[in-house]
Parts: sequence; structure tokens; C-alpha cells
Amino acid sequence: MTKNTDLVKQNLLPKHVGIIMDGNGRWAKKQGKDRIFGHQCGTKSLRKAIEFAREKSINILTVFAFSTENWQRPKKEVSVLMNLFLIVLKTEIKKMHKQNIKLKVVGDLSNFNVGMQKKIAESEKLTQGNTGLLLNVAANYGGRWDITEATKILLRKALNNEINVQDINENIMDGVIQQTGLVDVDLMIRTGGETRLSNFLLWQLAYAELYFTDVLWPDFDKVLFQKALDSFAGRTRNFGKTSE
Ligand code: IPE
Ligand code: IPE
Ligand code: MG
Repeated sequence: MTKNTDLVKQNLLPKHVGIIMDGNGRWAKKQGKDRIFGHQCGTKSLRKAIEFAREKSINILTVFAFSTENWQRPKKEVSVLMNLFLIVLKTEIKKMHKQNIKLKVVGDLSNFNVGMQKKIAESEKLTQGNTGLLLNVAANYGGRWDITEATKILLRKALNNEINVQDINENIMDGVIQQTGLVDVDLMIRTGGETRLSNFLLWQLAYAELYFTDVLWPDFDKVLFQKALDSFAGRTRNFGKTSE
């Protein structure tokens, strides 16, 4: 049997998968329910996606949970999303730890309430030594925010004479952008039918293979995840070179 590490080497299995989990609201509306119901059901799809990533020995899974623009939604929906995030963290973190998952939350955490910030810090600390799946949850995250923050860090270093402007290169940028793992995203999946990035990881997606599906996030399951992996396995990744 071919090992997953061999599949990665042959570019048949992505090391790093990013998911824009979109379509919860429409899924709920379709059945005459409130959008919030869709978000609640969406957490089940996330559990399945994590399980599948582990089964497949994917190294890194980065999921988009809340964008910097999502604050513009009705107050009630924002507060439900925040509470859901906290509840899922509280109920799942021990299990994740047992499963050797390392959890990282990427995004501007300063906008979250103190209780949430504390729970995030505790969860990251608990799982920081784990060596299994790295699960990045992008919360209050925006690709533009990420690049802007990285720019500020480098500018401060330059002003403090800790770095020369001419020495700044892509590797150094990699070091100051939000850390989602050692490798860029190989495969980016978006559910919900929209074919856009919506300010998800911009820097880290530079050479990702993109996979869009009309399936709404609460209906996303292991079969559909496998379909995305199959599509990835059939792609030719040139990275600017020719295939020879
Ligand atoms: C994605 O589903 C979840 C978040 C953005 C938090 P949506 O809530 O965007 O659902 P649709 O796209 O309106 O159906
Ligand atoms: C992207 O979905 C953000 C998340 C899934 C967290 P949106 O529903 O916010 O994206 P747009 O507004 O349709 O571009
Ligand atoms: Mg949406």
C-alpha cells in the first residue's frame, strides 16, 4: 500500500488544506430555519473534516471561522457565532488534546472578550506540544489585516535598526505573517458556491490549488472532502516552471 508520506512526495496529497466554510445561512434558510441553526449544524461538518484530515494524515488544516468583515453582520448573529466558538472550544479541546491535535487560533484576538481570549490561550497552551494534526482556526482573520500587521512588525524592526530594509525578502515576510505552519496552503476548498477568497489567507494561498463546490457547509462530509483531494491529485503544479 502507498503510504501517505509517499503520496505527499508525489504531490498527490496536500500537506496543508485550507477551508472556507461557507453556506451555513443559506442551508438553514432553505429549510425555513434561522441562519443560526445553520451555524450550529456547521460545527458538525467541522468535526467530520477534522476527523477526515487525521485519517488522511494531512499535516495542517486551516479553517476560516470568522472574517474581519463578519463583524458587519447583525449583532445577534455575531454573538451567536462567538458563543458557538467558545462552546466548541470548551467541549472539544480535551478530545483534541487526546487526539494529539495542536490547536492554533490565527487572527486579531484583541477584539474578543477576555473570557474568550483566556480560553484560546489555555487551549493553545494545552495542545502546544502535540505532534499530530495542526488545526489553525482563522477567527477575526483577514488576509489584508495579516499582511498589514506583518508590515508593521518589519517597519518597527527597521526603525529600531534590527533589520536592514534591503534584507527584507519573502522568507522574512514568511516569518512575520500569521503562522499557519511550516508550509503554504496546497489545497484551498470553499463550500457554498461562491468562487472568491473573501480575504482568507492571501499570502499563504499564493500557489494553492483552488477547489470550489456548491455544497453548503453543513452538508460537507468525508465523501466530498475526498472528492476535493481527488481533484488535487489530478492537478499539475508548475510553480511557474514548465512540466519538463
Ligand atoms: C459561513 O456561512 C459562516 C460564516 C461566515 C461565519 P455564512 O453565514 O456566510 O452562510 P451564507 O453564505 O450566508 O449562506
Ligand atoms: C467567508 O464567508 C468567511 C467565512 C467563511 C468565515 P462570507 O460569507 O463572509 O464571505 P462573502 O461575504 O460571501 O464574501
Ligand atoms: Mg457566506
